[in-house]
Amino acid sequence: MNLAVFISGGGSNFKALIDAQNSGYFNSQIKFVVSNKNAPGLKYAKENNIDFLISKDEDEIIKNLKEHNIDLIVLAGYLVKISKKILDEFTVINIHPSLLPKYGGKGFYGMNVHNAVFENKEKVSGVTVHFVNEKLDDGDIILQKQVDISHCKNADEISQEVLKVEHKTLKEVIRILEEEECVH
Ligand code: GRF
Repeated sequence: MNLAVFISGGGSNFKALIDAQNSGYFNSQIKFVVSNKNAPGLKYAKENNIDFLISKDEDEIIKNLKEHNIDLIVLAGYLVKISKKILDEFTVINIHPSLLPKYGGKGFYGMNVHNAVFENKEKVSGVTVHFVNEKLDDGDIILQKQVDISHCKNADEISQEVLKVEHKTLKEVIRILEEEECVH
């Protein structure tokens, strides 16, 4: 599959996908990166000679995705809602740092998720990779993993524990989708 990765932040999940590709963990190729702003994670695109686009213009994004023959869009810390226009043309997956449906939906992104998990004194959090539909954090779940956070003393520690598992989970999902050949 030809992958496009959408990012808004540090891009550590994007970097984990690049590493997985380079080590031969999956056959897919990251062909394109999209960001809504000059995100720090774009440095990994530059370092690895992956084409990228900074834009919020959906028509421009779709045109570029088509030019790169993209089969699958991976949202990896992308903080913009994906519109029907894109969903009509592409299969999109997202990684979310909680055990959806818990701590998902409006307002639950980034540290907001981990702060709420910490405040609720959860002992277990997790990672969910799911298909994206028109509702926030709502599509079918592809893979979900639990993370023991019983030892975490604050939300930052939770986020670090969860992020480590995110990096493993996302590349596994790419392999699952390759094997199932369910992306067209
Ligand atoms: C991750 O926790 C991801 O689940 C969430 O935003 C964070 C992005 O981290 N949606 P990074 O940019 O991949 O480092």
